[in-house]
Amino acid sequence: MVKFQIKDQNMNIYTEAEEFQVRRKGILLAGGQGKRLAPLTNVISKQLMPVYDKPMIYYSLTTLMLCGIKDILIVSDPVNVDLYRQLLLDGKQWGINISYAIQEKPEGVAQSVLIGEDFIDSSPIAIALGDNIFHGNDLISLLRSADSLDKGSTIFAYAVRDPENYGVLKFDNSGSIVDIVEKPKKPPSAYAVTGLYFYDNTVIEKAKELVPSHRGELEITDINIKYLNDKLLNVEIMGRGIAWLDTGTIDALQEASQYIRTLENRQGLKVGSPEEIAWRQGWINDQQLEKLAINLSNSFYGEYLIKLLQFEIKDSFIN
Ligand code: G1P
Repeated sequence: MVKFQIKDQNMNIYTEAEEFQVRRKGILLAGGQGKRLAPLTNVISKQLMPVYDKPMIYYSLTTLMLCGIKDILIVSDPVNVDLYRQLLLDGKQWGINISYAIQEKPEGVAQSVLIGEDFIDSSPIAIALGDNIFHGNDLISLLRSADSLDKGSTIFAYAVRDPENYGVLKFDNSGSIVDIVEKPKKPPSAYAVTGLYFYDNTVIEKAKELVPSHRGELEITDINIKYLNDKLLNVEIMGRGIAWLDTGTIDALQEASQYIRTLENRQGLKVGSPEEIAWRQGWINDQQLEKLAINLSNSFYGEYLIKLLQFEIKDSFIN
């Protein structure tokens, strides 16, 4: 929704109107084999693993919800898609719409755009990788400003110790981004591209032009390079006030759980609860939250939801 002011000849503002914008949709990728977490992932999808008190996918789902996105397509493999359906249902319980699509083989993040073409239709999109967890004070304003751009794309970069495991930004001497290199042996910088991407609708035509990389995947990095070449790639650096947690190895997974545990136990607030975020966004009312809470009432998670209603925990920052 864009608000604009109409001015008369003397430049006095005399009215305000609202123009409807096509609402951004979300694609959440929960495929891949998670081989580095075997045997944990031998029979169950990585994004269903617990990160402290909730399934990993809740965190990326709520990242999309925090952007205001209400139409979400979960893309998963043929075996696990039904588990996601059982877990997340059709989203109506959280005031959103969740649909599902299958990626037959792990052939790349960018393939999700082709799989989701009908779902995307004429909308701009955000793609979130189901194993990426973000947390931090400026997160919501970063997400909202990415959402407000109608043209081009926004990606987020974050300084890491091990850039070779990610897509990595390459800068020229003046500090402009000149390239993005996928999993470089010699990283050109410490800035990794995170798994959250905002695109306008031209992403569909860009995805159609892609050819598989040497690892047999349609690379999201190649889409980002296309936007870069068109001078339509907006790169936001996530500062040290934001945590981008890795969940790729057993140790990283444990550390992510520990991080969430520490925060939640100290503050008494949950990170990444779809029930809470839907309620705070006004997408479900008190009665609906109460019903969800009662269904979970034997767990600490359910008790927390009940407390939200009882004590009206005030919190402007909800992730
Ligand atoms: C993917 C992207 C990579 C990005 C990473 C973020 O890597 O290809 O550019 O930095 O997600 O998590 P993959 O998960 O395919 O290894």
